[in-house]
Amino acid sequence: MTKATDSSGIIRLDSRRTSYIIRVGETGHLENLYYGRKLRADSDLNALAQKRVIGIGTGVAYSERKPLVFMDTMCLETSTPGKGDFRTPAVQVEYANGMTTLDFTYRSHRFIEGKPNFPGLIAQSYAKKPSEATTLQFQLLDKTLPIVLTLNYTMFTECDVLVRSCILTNGTKEKIVIRNLASLQLDLPDADWNVVSFDGAWARERSVTRRHLEEGIIELGSTCGVSSAFHNPAVFLERPDCTTSRGECYAFNLVYSGNHREIIEKSPFGLARFQSGINPQDFAWTLESGKEFTTPEAVVTYSATGSNGASTNMHAFVNTHIVRGTWQYRERPVLCNNWEATYFNFSENRILELARAAKDVGVELFVLDDGWFGQRNDDTTSLGDWYVNTKKLTSGITHLSNQIHAMGLMFGIWVEPEMISRRSLLFDSHPDWAVMIPGRDPSVGRNQFILDFTRKDVRDYIVKVMTEVFRLSKADYVKWDMNRIFSDFYSASGIRMGEFFHRYVMGLYDVFSRLVSAFPEILFEGCASGGNRFDLGILCFMPQIWTSDNSDAFSRTVIQGGTSYAYPVSTMGAHVSASPNHQTLRKTDNESRFNVAAFGVLGYEMDLSALNMQQKQAVKEQIAFYKKYRGLLQFGRFYRLSEEGSNRTRWMVANTDFSEMLVLDFQTLNRPNIGPEVLRIPFARPDFDYEFTSRIQKVPIRDFGSLINMVSPVTIKSGGKLRKVIDDNVMLTSSDEHCIVSGDVLAYGGIRLNPQFCGTGFTQDVRVLGDFGSRLYHIVRIKKEVRN
Ligand code: DGJ
Repeated sequence: MTKATDSSGIIRLDSRRTSYIIRVGETGHLENLYYGRKLRADSDLNALAQKRVIGIGTGVAYSERKPLVFMDTMCLETSTPGKGDFRTPAVQVEYANGMTTLDFTYRSHRFIEGKPNFPGLIAQSYAKKPSEATTLQFQLLDKTLPIVLTLNYTMFTECDVLVRSCILTNGTKEKIVIRNLASLQLDLPDADWNVVSFDGAWARERSVTRRHLEEGIIELGSTCGVSSAFHNPAVFLERPDCTTSRGECYAFNLVYSGNHREIIEKSPFGLARFQSGINPQDFAWTLESGKEFTTPEAVVTYSATGSNGASTNMHAFVNTHIVRGTWQYRERPVLCNNWEATYFNFSENRILELARAAKDVGVELFVLDDGWFGQRNDDTTSLGDWYVNTKKLTSGITHLSNQIHAMGLMFGIWVEPEMISRRSLLFDSHPDWAVMIPGRDPSVGRNQFILDFTRKDVRDYIVKVMTEVFRLSKADYVKWDMNRIFSDFYSASGIRMGEFFHRYVMGLYDVFSRLVSAFPEILFEGCASGGNRFDLGILCFMPQIWTSDNSDAFSRTVIQGGTSYAYPVSTMGAHVSASPNHQTLRKTDNESRFNVAAFGVLGYEMDLSALNMQQKQAVKEQIAFYKKYRGLLQFGRFYRLSEEGSNRTRWMVANTDFSEMLVLDFQTLNRPNIGPEVLRIPFARPDFDYEFTSRIQKVPIRDFGSLINMVSPVTIKSGGKLRKVIDDNVMLTSSDEHCIVSGDVLAYGGIRLNPQFCGTGFTQDVRVLGDFGSRLYHIVRIKKEVRN
């Protein structure tokens, strides 16, 4: 059962494991009675209702006729200023003379099978079949003015995810101004929650911040014009005893790529309020008489099985109800991107050399990054001039693409269509298309300006030009980059500036949807200086996003780990890059760089043509391994097995019945001579038997430095030529671990891993991890007969 209404005004929406219960209260306001673990269909829900028997000192009672109703102590589905609720209002609308007091009460509700497509939203969740979801729609009407607030709730049954949006309709004769309209408000009856947010900046996106909610307000969000790396729209509320695998938590997100705000408030009466939606800063939407405004969709799930439970729900939701199109469940190709191998400095021959090297190790898609167009030899010029630079690519883009296709590779191309360089032909002919204020010295980011996507003429132009680029380059893949955030907000088209940011986002979605539907076979990857716009809005059009420009393996354990709370592995671009790393200068062994990147959509972003025979062989084996387990890695269930801040990062992907799993065991710093290390897999099925195998990894003998003779089978003199040859070419095999293990042992006791190298000898059974080292383990169910 997914829906019900009873005579006491209680309305419930159930999913597989959760119940969301709303009551139309005595004053007609929508009260939240409960959201959590699924309740029995026959449960008496009246006990959940608030008891109103005494007044509150200094409280404002709702009306003279209702002296015991205090909005400030109620769990409300929406809230307005002026009627005694002093928490952050969800709806702030200015009408005659700037008044903001409104009072929305129940008018009607209805259930709709499935998920309707809401007009006014371009990016939104969807259900392929009506049976996948139930939508509950309330109409609320202001007590005095003909202003209607529609609340849409869609419960996606299988993944336990609820999506909410609001529509405000102006039925008055005058225009009104929306100052704030939250997509979701969830009031909870107590405030004992840890707030978990995903914060950072360029090259350190979405690190986990966890703090207890205390009196007052925690406000997160973005005013950058993009969802931003500062604070992702995803937020978790966890009980203080919640861990990765047990305890209660809620997870929230927003289907939006622009300015967003999340409020988490503890009220003086000990209630918690969560809100998310468009950021009210720099937002003022004028609603003419008879018009309506629809908010982006907010997303929430509840889990009683820790943060992994909430992540599992979110991952299933994103894969099934956000990502769409040809590539939704299609395994993504292993790519090689030339950016960190060449930056702007390349020729056609150099690109072909890199592509050949990529093909040689098993790469499937070659991506030509920034620098192929206009006069683009550095980042000061040419954005907007989307025609090939024939000084670099002498035979043109079509010929290059043909040659790469002829090697048996797919071809991908980088573009940054939302931008314009001052030094460009486009700027010379359309200076008013750049977002800057006439007569004011504009601020600048990466030497470039934003194209005014609020304008239809600009959007039409970009769609036309990109259509030509994709057609001429015969692109199989497009990396859509966006490398600056907004300043000097202005549009020469004369729109109201309070509408600029939202109109930009809607303009962007318009361009995306036109191009994506014109090129349904192209695999699009979103990007914004790495992960500066990693959100559900982008994922409605592009199935994967470049997670961060920082591809240092240790940094990625933090970045991908944080991202994994709300986004599935299939959405995260993850590349193996050079060591020392270009962002951190950290040195990390080649195998560990792969092991971490394997928990994403794998790529290589380094000079593959410079590998020696041994390195090349190692990369070949990595790619072969990835291809073998790609389905599991990209679309399996992902779990965090370690808590943040520990010296180890352990991740796991599993198939649905846990008969096959892959586990990453990453060590941050090496502490020598520690006791036995245990790898416990709580998700292993106790009734299964498993075969446990480590991925064979190579350790360059060079890593042992002057200890070389401790590990080498033959004695090698230091300093000689032979030493150099051996250093460059000899690899040892680290810890070939293998055993048959019962599921109960794996789940309850754990496997004792082979000891790590600590200067007391080396055999094939020793694990060489060092700092930032790691192992991958494959665990697969075996049948009893095999065991005996
Ligand atoms: C930023 C991206 O994140 C990088 O991967 C690369 O494409 C550069 N832009 C190119 O300018």
